Amino acid sequence: MCGIVGYIGSREAYPILIKGLKRLEYRGYDSAGVALINGQGKLNVYKAKGKVSNLESTAEGCDTTGYIGIAHTRWATHGVPSQTNAHPHVSASGQIALIHNGIIENYATLKEKLIKLGYKFNSETDTEVLVQLIDYIQRRDSLDLAHAVRIALTHIEGAYAIAVVDTKHPETLIVARKSSPLVIGIGEGEFFIASDASPIAEYTDKVVYLSDNETASLDLRHGLTITNLDDVEHTPEIQTLKLSLSQLEKGGYPHFMLKEIYEQPKTIRDCMRGRVPESGTYIKLSGVEDNKERFLQAKRIIIVACGTSWHAALIGEHLIEDLCRIPVEVEYASEFRYRNPVINADDVVIAISQSGETADTLAAVELAHKSGAFVYGICNAVGSSIPRATDSGSYIHVGPEIGVASTKAFTGQVTVLTMLALALAKLHQTISDEKYDTIVNELREVPSKMENAIKLCTGMENMAKVFTYARNFIYLGRGYNYPAAMEGALKLKEISYIHAEGYPAAEMKHGPIALIDTEMPVVAIANSDSIYDKTVSNVQEVKARGGKVIAVVEDGDTKLSGMADYVIRTPRTLEMLSPLMSAIPLQLLAYYIAVNKGRDVDQPRNLAKSVTVE
Ligand code: M6R
Repeated sequence: MCGIVGYIGSREAYPILIKGLKRLEYRGYDSAGVALINGQGKLNVYKAKGKVSNLESTAEGCDTTGYIGIAHTRWATHGVPSQTNAHPHVSASGQIALIHNGIIENYATLKEKLIKLGYKFNSETDTEVLVQLIDYIQRRDSLDLAHAVRIALTHIEGAYAIAVVDTKHPETLIVARKSSPLVIGIGEGEFFIASDASPIAEYTDKVVYLSDNETASLDLRHGLTITNLDDVEHTPEIQTLKLSLSQLEKGGYPHFMLKEIYEQPKTIRDCMRGRVPESGTYIKLSGVEDNKERFLQAKRIIIVACGTSWHAALIGEHLIEDLCRIPVEVEYASEFRYRNPVINADDVVIAISQSGETADTLAAVELAHKSGAFVYGICNAVGSSIPRATDSGSYIHVGPEIGVASTKAFTGQVTVLTMLALALAKLHQTISDEKYDTIVNELREVPSKMENAIKLCTGMENMAKVFTYARNFIYLGRGYNYPAAMEGALKLKEISYIHAEGYPAAEMKHGPIALIDTEMPVVAIANSDSIYDKTVSNVQEVKARGGKVIAVVEDGDTKLSGMADYVIRTPRTLEMLSPLMSAIPLQLLAYYIAVNKGRDVDQPRNLAKSVTVE
């Protein structure tokens, strides 16, 4: 989704803004732009369709000087991706420039009013309405920019993170947010703003996460002032950023996605650090310990999430029901928020989100709160909106995930859900000591087993070549590996653009088996688990119809691997932990197929990393 960056201080803004836009490229975008106020108070705006590098070419040889500037990567909502629709948008007076992430829902009504007042519009965007509204209010009431912005925002319905500059006041940058993220970095006599901390991390570790309905004035003379829309001042809560630059770079890998797949043994160690002891078996999840009563009184748990996080949620459902005997419902956040669901005050609602910014998941959190439920977040991005909107939660601590296809966040989410289920099972006394100890001891082995899982994938690059031109794929799994199958299919379709579906293996005979022929690769995931033999029978049915089977099986397997055309082996583990092993070959299969097809692996078409619009 859109990314915003801004700078004000004593350095040249342009290089900082361009570098910042590149750091935000991972969010997904289709055009980019920058606005700078030069030393003579002239506003220079450059925009381009496509990549940030196109913007650099457009601005080459032009005046890019100035110590204040704002820049934007746009993910089209209102109006096609084009140079005209790209941000920044400039007011009729030519004085004010604005960038925006979010959606202005009542833009049509406002636009009509502004047209009647004589305003002309160049673009099809909702954003241009806001800059003209600010311009109108500023001129009508002779206000400074900060006041005009605040009044304009009281007329806006929807979501926004904005940054605004005014040629008459090159010493001030104004920002505001509602339901879209915005971080302010505080340096020595300079300020940075961005949609997330990644463009800021190399300049300062002092940050302020702006809250909903807050505006901030970043002024070189008066410093940082935060006010709400009623003009009441708030004291900024300055936090220390824990983000290293190496986490934001590829570190020698051709793609972030490959780096993030290979990082998983380490990220799962980080995720378990301080929670799973090096010896002994006591799982310490402070979010659970601090809220024992709420978890004990819950008769039901609802998990809300989207995409990959939803797949992790399904694994969480199996884990919690299996170990704690508490009913769990898993919902797509986008459906949950609009279907008038029954939420009881004693329910626990768990929201899972890598970015912590997914608009639908955030809205589901708000809905759950209104019903009095206790809301628990499982997120990755520290300081993002969902962890701040929930009552408590657990970070997955896997570090920034830059590739649009979620990999290490998925295994981090499943790991936290496993620890959560174990902690709850202990609390509810629904697990024997022996079973609990066995699972914890095996969980501790997961990072080193993941290292082996990666080693066992050495032939994957060659295998992927065989399937590069397949037009469809089916992924089959049962039990814990059914969500793993759906996740494998999602990985393939989002980065290779090959149509793929994940099914519970036994459902094949109820319809999808009609699709099977010699052209249909079928990835069958099976562990030596309680339903292994049933899966083997399902795969036999596929083989009997000429399907090409790629079996993802545990090391030492003979039965399923004996009937498969291709075999991928994973280290042996407990059934409930097996998705943490099968995830790795499925991610790598999708990765290599996408690379062979020449796809933009880290930024696949049409996708955004942080889905901040519904
Ligand atoms: O940040 P979130 O976990 O809330 O994101 C949810 C989905 O948008 C995300 O998982 C998406 O499906 C990924 N591209 C999958 O790889």
